[in-house]
Amino acid sequence: MNTIVPAIAPSFAINRLSSILAAEVIGLDLRKPLDRPTQEAVYQAFLQYQLLVFRGQALGKEQQIAFTGQFGTLEKHMPCNQGSDLSLLHVVSNLDERGVPTGVLGSTRWHSDKSFRAAPSMATVLHAVQLPPEGGDTCFANMYRAWETLPVAIRAELEGVRVVHSWALSRDNAGKIISEAERLDAPPMSHPLARPHPDTGRRALFVGAHASHLEGLPLAPGRARIEALETHATHPSNVYQHRWAPGDVIMWDNRCLLHRALPNFDAAAHARVLHRTCLRGTPTSE
Ligand SMILES: [Fe+2]
Repeated sequence: MNTIVPAIAPSFAINRLSSILAAEVIGLDLRKPLDRPTQEAVYQAFLQYQLLVFRGQALGKEQQIAFTGQFGTLEKHMPCNQGSDLSLLHVVSNLDERGVPTGVLGSTRWHSDKSFRAAPSMATVLHAVQLPPEGGDTCFANMYRAWETLPVAIRAELEGVRVVHSWALSRDNAGKIISEAERLDAPPMSHPLARPHPDTGRRALFVGAHASHLEGLPLAPGRARIEALETHATHPSNVYQHRWAPGDVIMWDNRCLLHRALPNFDAAAHARVLHRTCLRGTPTSE
């Protein structure tokens, strides 16, 4: 869809990218600080479209950190993701230390960043640095719609249910063992399954790869329920697939989206490198 809508601030225009979520912000150079009205207008667009794309940017690491910091408090990444010289910027990469593609692509399961924290991530910013000739897309599912399109009876049944998110579980599922320090740093955390968005008040299903089980319910049926909800939530009719172009910066709302990297390129032959920064969210509430 190519509908340019009138600018909501004098300094930029919005081009909606799909009916599910996502819009392009046209006219901003992210290397420069945004004035206060523009910051606020960008944040309003972020709430409205859940994901913003800024094309043709050329941000250094410090510039990306500065851009992200205009919208909140940056947070450090998990120790296993701190391969960068800057702990606030995670280099998402399929390359080994010699710069050779490993064939391994991470984050291919649907998730919300740091959902295992007491205050899960508010937003993530990714900047495309090196891309394969084609593919290497990232997919996003709209979790407002996921909740709102459930049958009324199911929603009534799930009212008040809490879901436990666990870093240990998701690492285990990825075939990794976490250290004792990581276990202590990120203990399992319970959140509302239908999480009220702190800014919009709309409810969003809060599941994904870190979701372990439903609190107070036997493990197996709780996990089966989570999987069924995730299948519903990630139906193609509820997904926006982002095809990266060099210089793209995208910023999305983890409080109402799930995302995953799509393994639709040869990760043993081509580089895919993105720079990632995250903003801390607020504790979930019911
Ligand atoms: Fe992620």
